[in-house]
Amino acid sequence: MLRGLFRTKNLDDILAAAGGPQFSLRRTLGAFNITLLGIGAIIGAGIFATVGTAAAGDAARPGAGPSLMLSFVITAIVCGFTALCYAEFASMVPISGSAYTYSYSTLGELVAWIIGWDLIIEYAVGNIAVAISWANYFRTLMGNLGVDIPAWLSTDYRTAAKLAANNPTLYAQDFGGAPQLFGHPVIFNLLAFLIVALITIVLVWGIRESAGFNAGMVLIKIVVLLFFIGIALYYVSPAKMAQNWVPFQPNGWKGTFTGAALVFFAYIGFDAVSTVAEECKNPSRDLPIGIIASLVVCTILYVVVGAVFTGIIPYNELVQKLSNEQAEPLTMALDHVAPAGVQWPSTLVAFGSVIAHTAVLLVFQLGQPRIFFSMARDGLLPSVFASVHPRFKTPHVTTILTGVFVGGIAAFASIDEMVDLTNIGTLFAFILVCVGIPILRMKDPGRARPFRVPLGAFFLPLLGAASCLFLMFYLPPASWWRFFGWLVLGFAIYLSYGYTRSSVGRKEGRPERTPAPLKLAAVGFLVVAVGLFTIPHDLGPLAMMETTRDATADRHDRAIYGLIMIALGLVTGVVGTLLGGAAARPGAGEPERS
Ligand code: ALA
Repeated sequence: MLRGLFRTKNLDDILAAAGGPQFSLRRTLGAFNITLLGIGAIIGAGIFATVGTAAAGDAARPGAGPSLMLSFVITAIVCGFTALCYAEFASMVPISGSAYTYSYSTLGELVAWIIGWDLIIEYAVGNIAVAISWANYFRTLMGNLGVDIPAWLSTDYRTAAKLAANNPTLYAQDFGGAPQLFGHPVIFNLLAFLIVALITIVLVWGIRESAGFNAGMVLIKIVVLLFFIGIALYYVSPAKMAQNWVPFQPNGWKGTFTGAALVFFAYIGFDAVSTVAEECKNPSRDLPIGIIASLVVCTILYVVVGAVFTGIIPYNELVQKLSNEQAEPLTMALDHVAPAGVQWPSTLVAFGSVIAHTAVLLVFQLGQPRIFFSMARDGLLPSVFASVHPRFKTPHVTTILTGVFVGGIAAFASIDEMVDLTNIGTLFAFILVCVGIPILRMKDPGRARPFRVPLGAFFLPLLGAASCLFLMFYLPPASWWRFFGWLVLGFAIYLSYGYTRSSVGRKEGRPERTPAPLKLAAVGFLVVAVGLFTIPHDLGPLAMMETTRDATADRHDRAIYGLIMIALGLVTGVVGTLLGGAAARPGAGEPERS
């Protein structure tokens, strides 16, 4: 076995490495500012973009219908458990790096790597979804203002292809003007790419969000959601809405839970607040209040928006509309109820939505490089990831890398797929954070915990972990395959680089260079990842087996090639890892501890 995979980092070392008192930040934030920070990171594409699919469903999932409001409550409770765990960790380890840092101190290096790798999904992949949604609303806004941005420059190819299959007339109308290349229409989301490029430039330049700027953004977000609620109530009476809420659960509890798993995206961001623990006046009191308060405020807003959204369009009409139109749900809903020719309400919502999306993009595009930075400091990524620009004093390498990754993929990806992947990755990270609480309480009971999760070390954290797992279960199979593929790809990188380069590994006496069998194992796991990305993603495990057995089945060959790659890669990976562990042993200096 490989040495010291579960070796943890000492919390005192972590705190010391993050800098002595000379690096300490000014403690200026109170509970109110922290709440605003939380709301700033939370309200974005989730409420503006995912509610449509969550309510109406799509080919991969049943819709929640009017029970969308209940979906929001369920997800809020799941996030509440995790929020308490984040608050305990953040008050105890008040430094940047978030879940990655916490898991290094509780579950060891391998899990820390997995989390760090997984957080790329939360931050970077999440931002891909936000950028796509930004582009949709920006196009609507411009269209309402009389500036027509062609659909072929603000949509991804596969979404357009789906429209071509479902509604050829609308496709011809929207995409008929797309230029052709080798007989194929050129369709990509230039808008999403451009907004990410712009934000990347701003962040490399070094403009940081100030508390005042954030408060302004938060105000706009809240006002625009309140405006949506108010104007919807003006056009449609509560009595009429109540009629549209029947049937409440058109697809039963399955629809409600599936909706909850999807709108989880709308809550992501409260965890990012924990990174400002060092700047809190009184972290033990303010941080939990801030995290929980931002969750409560957003939940109330979301439930009411969900109620109004499903109240102004009957469920069946919504399903019909969303399967035919590439519309943004909230503006579409307003256009649906406003008198003919009255566009200003949806223009205003589109404007607020663009601002809200921009704020979220900034927070996460700023956060991702910080995580890379922490990982590079621990030796799990090359030191260039921790480099700081000599003039701008910003982590320019990782900021640009994040920008290229997010912008490049946003140009071609579909929003629902990115939301699902973000949700599964983030829920997984939350599970590890929840599990970390009882472990650290047992390992390090004497450490000061300015805030403690109430009701003991086990009850709420384990409830949190179980409920996150429950929501993951309701995400479509495609997100599971891609998530596994991503994790295995990460493991290949860890074996070929981080295992020997990590600072913890150095102390363990691991070899300086990656032994050949480990390189082989890394190639094996890389092949597994390629296999996982190759198999038809929309099939669950049973349907996949059926497809491999039935030579006439659609995508039979793809399933077979993918599964062969997975099997061969797994064998190579496991054998290489075992041999690599043996090869690493002779070079070991000290006996293994812990
Ligand atoms: N919660 C954030 C959003 O909805 C990620 O955009």
